[in-house]
Amino acid sequence: MGAVALSVAFDTDPGIDDALALILALRSTELRLALVTTVAGNGPLEMTTRNAVRVLEYLGAAHVPVAAGAATPIRRPFHGALGYHGPDALGQLMLPEGRAQIELRAACDLLFDFAAAAPGERTLIATGPLTNVALAFQRHEDMPSLLKEVVIMGGAFQLTRFGTGNQTPYAEFNIWQDPDAAHLVFRSGVPMTIVGLDVTNDPSSALDATDLARLRESNSRTAALASDLLEYALRQHDYCFMHDPLALATILDPSLFEFTEGEVDVVTRDDEERGRTFLVPSAPSSNQRRTARIARSIDGPRFKELFLSRVLEA
Ligand code: RIB
Ligand code: CA
Repeated sequence: MGAVALSVAFDTDPGIDDALALILALRSTELRLALVTTVAGNGPLEMTTRNAVRVLEYLGAAHVPVAAGAATPIRRPFHGALGYHGPDALGQLMLPEGRAQIELRAACDLLFDFAAAAPGERTLIATGPLTNVALAFQRHEDMPSLLKEVVIMGGAFQLTRFGTGNQTPYAEFNIWQDPDAAHLVFRSGVPMTIVGLDVTNDPSSALDATDLARLRESNSRTAALASDLLEYALRQHDYCFMHDPLALATILDPSLFEFTEGEVDVVTRDDEERGRTFLVPSAPSSNQRRTARIARSIDGPRFKELFLSRVLEA
């Protein structure tokens, strides 16, 4: 009897690497993708929502419910990242428009229902700004206690030489976009695994032209989609950094990583350190501190083999 698949929800801002993470999730039998909620981040909300629907439908997963969440951060203006992800935030892929109707209910309520349906057993994977997660925790105060964990792609903790910012010298994009949301989630008491630029900006875990050639050898729809996404990213850069698939990989094979445990927080001031994440020096006597698992190393070649083999699997 195989193990029961872990029910996961994705809160995401597709986004090239978000789409690659959705591909990996759908190719991983350990998981059941129960819900996708979208947030403004790499692109405006209507773009990230359209992209989530298009990718799921292209991959034969139109049954997965999609709900649109927040169009702006909790209290700051929205700033996209179309320069990297393309004018459609998805590498200008000519995917067919999705036909599926998105959910009419609020994303934060659907996220709560997802968690409450099996207390302590379900995982939320957040690969965009944390606005939806924070709003869900604000509206449903018991939600942090209902989740098995939240896996977050976000932050830069100076745990490696790669652990500095990509939006500013100090701050990673997702956290910088909505630092107030990140602060609320970090302090909520929800169990967290955090994957920051410390490991995701490590070129050993990024895909390159050799990996693209390997993907192109397959004519499967999944490999074709992954190849087109990768090809767009490689037009501008030597590497396609796998920020969001790496967050998912902490569930699929934790042995790929080494982790540091600690309490985390974020700068919410509107100065040059906005969005900077850091480990809080914990008072030894305190037993109230909430610790997170923060990734501090990655076995890049083994991660890449995990991703490529699952995409290429017949
Ligand atoms: O900083 C990288 C993160 O910001 C990734 O999740 C990418 O998709 C963007 O959302
Ligand atoms: Ca993302």
